[in-house]
Amino acid sequence: MPRYVIKGGVPLRGTVRVSGAKNAVLPMLASTILNPHPCEIRGVPQLRDVEVMIGLLRALGVKVDGPDAGGVVRVNAGSLDTHEVDERLTREMRSSIFLMGPLLGRMGRVKIAYPGGCAIGPRPIDFHLKGLEALGVNIKEQSGFIHASTRGMVGGDIHLDFPSVGATENIMMAAVLAKGTTVIRNAAKEPEIIDLQNFLNGMGARIKGAGMDTIRVEGVSLEDLKPVSHMVIPDRIEAGTFLAMVAATGGEVTLHNIIPEHVEAVVHKLREAGVQFQHADDGLTVRATRRPTAVDFKTLPYPGFPTDMQPQMMALMSIADGTSIITETVFESRFAVAAELRRMGGQIKTEGRTAVVKGVERLSGATVTASDLRSGVALVLAGLVATGCTVVEGVHHIQRGYELLDSKLRGLGARIELE
Ligand code: UD1
Repeated sequence: MPRYVIKGGVPLRGTVRVSGAKNAVLPMLASTILNPHPCEIRGVPQLRDVEVMIGLLRALGVKVDGPDAGGVVRVNAGSLDTHEVDERLTREMRSSIFLMGPLLGRMGRVKIAYPGGCAIGPRPIDFHLKGLEALGVNIKEQSGFIHASTRGMVGGDIHLDFPSVGATENIMMAAVLAKGTTVIRNAAKEPEIIDLQNFLNGMGARIKGAGMDTIRVEGVSLEDLKPVSHMVIPDRIEAGTFLAMVAATGGEVTLHNIIPEHVEAVVHKLREAGVQFQHADDGLTVRATRRPTAVDFKTLPYPGFPTDMQPQMMALMSIADGTSIITETVFESRFAVAAELRRMGGQIKTEGRTAVVKGVERLSGATVTASDLRSGVALVLAGLVATGCTVVEGVHHIQRGYELLDSKLRGLGARIELE
């Protein structure tokens, strides 16, 4: 099994290009099913999760080329020939659930296994199912499979109990070909939802309001859809991860392909911790000259502090000056990284949704294991700043969401090898 071997203690310096956003690309790829015409997505990162989604599309009879070296994927779902989603791939990735909305829109039915994915506590799909039911979908659950069908979706008025990113996107995609207007209230406001709206509207959908509390989808018919080409937004979590890494190691790095507004919550917290930022041409420069100061933070839906940056920030707070209180409000159990950081000398206590991190002067290298994507990259961050050698196992989790992480870090001077 591949692992990262990191020799810590080198300040990061140079420039790095942020890849396209995984969390924008996954629903976008799924949504191509709606469209019988060619779709082109540019800026697609080479990631395991993207490969899985492409595998799922191919197993449905959809033609997919790419991503090529330039990050272009071409999809033609004119050849879609089944409503049964591949079970093995579905269990590998939670985002397989995104196929439900588009398959219902195009085929009127779907059979899909309960999806798998990162081990970050219970991640139910009840909001997705309730939303689809409100559009006239009949759902049965049988021996680990969901069977959903409709005689024709009709627009509905949906109020989400929590602004779930995935449920907002799934309902949006399902509503594209429904009859009449769908309203999604208490919708999630993440930038990836705006990007999905832009992609869908590019293919002829009529959606307004993404990025706000209420999204309105005017249903269109299959004949209204047309070919589309779209450039995906930069990955704000990858960007935030590099910012936190520089905050940990010290040094100065300019990030290219970044939308500063999308990383504002992270930048704000890092500034409070003593990190400096400067806007550069087509980028953002981050500079850290001293040990970070401890800061408290709470994860929230966008535009709050992202839960996908919480483990990396916990790793950073492990070496901060002072004590930090972290509150996780989005997921029930997302502190898996604390136990691994403790193996490196971190002083972290967790109880329920709260973690108390008492900063230590230095972490020391150890063999640690990634249990999910963001905890994994948080351990890489810890390894970059620890004394001695850190071995991070479970690298496949990290490769699900970070493109060329080790080579990008080597480009910034880090001593990290994939072995
Ligand atoms: C998406 C992101 C993920 C990120 C998360 C929160 C993608 C591909 N993944 O995941 O990286 O960590 O947003 O920003 O975009 N919930 C329910 N029932 C549901 C759906 C969600 O109870 O039907 C709960 C979840 O358990 C969780 C909360 O709602 O506690 C938020 O989840 P959600 O926003 O749906 O996350 P994902 O879309 O799975």
